[in-house]
Amino acid sequence: MKDIVKSVHITLKTEEELNETEQKLIEAAKEATFRSYAPYSQFHVGASVLLANDEIITGNNQENCAFPSGLCAERTTLFYANSRYPDIPVKILCIAARDTSGEFTKDPISPCGGCRQVMLETEHRFGIPMQVMLYGTDGTYFIASARDLLPVAFDSESL
Ligand code: THU
Repeated sequence: MKDIVKSVHITLKTEEELNETEQKLIEAAKEATFRSYAPYSQFHVGASVLLANDEIITGNNQENCAFPSGLCAERTTLFYANSRYPDIPVKILCIAARDTSGEFTKDPISPCGGCRQVMLETEHRFGIPMQVMLYGTDGTYFIASARDLLPVAFDSESL
């Protein structure tokens, strides 16, 4: 018997430690929360992605009265970016959320399992790591690659 340990490296940056691009991505994700459609949960999530052509694309959660038919901000944004620019890699994905109080969350929120799987697919299809930024008012988590968020993953090599 042996143990296999997989851990995740998270860098926490305060506002003062962010570079200009990182600030722009956070601002874009925060702004996108105000356009989300979340009448059922009142939990507004915004996402922004930085493409390799330096374009920033945003999206947000889109809910539905048939709950499972809704979609998270991360997938809405990645699917839109990839459908618009199928050949341009996604370099960074950033998310921010406002909870039922309407305020941005103090701690970063973390992508759900379904979004992690889609993030991994995006990373694979372009063959470069996609950095993940998770915003909270107390600080932003930086994770080097979507792979780090799904360490024991089903991926295309499993097929
Ligand atoms: N949600 C996201 O958009 N992204 C996440 O990372 C977590 C959850 C959405 C789904 C749903 O519309 C609402 O937040 C509450 O779960």
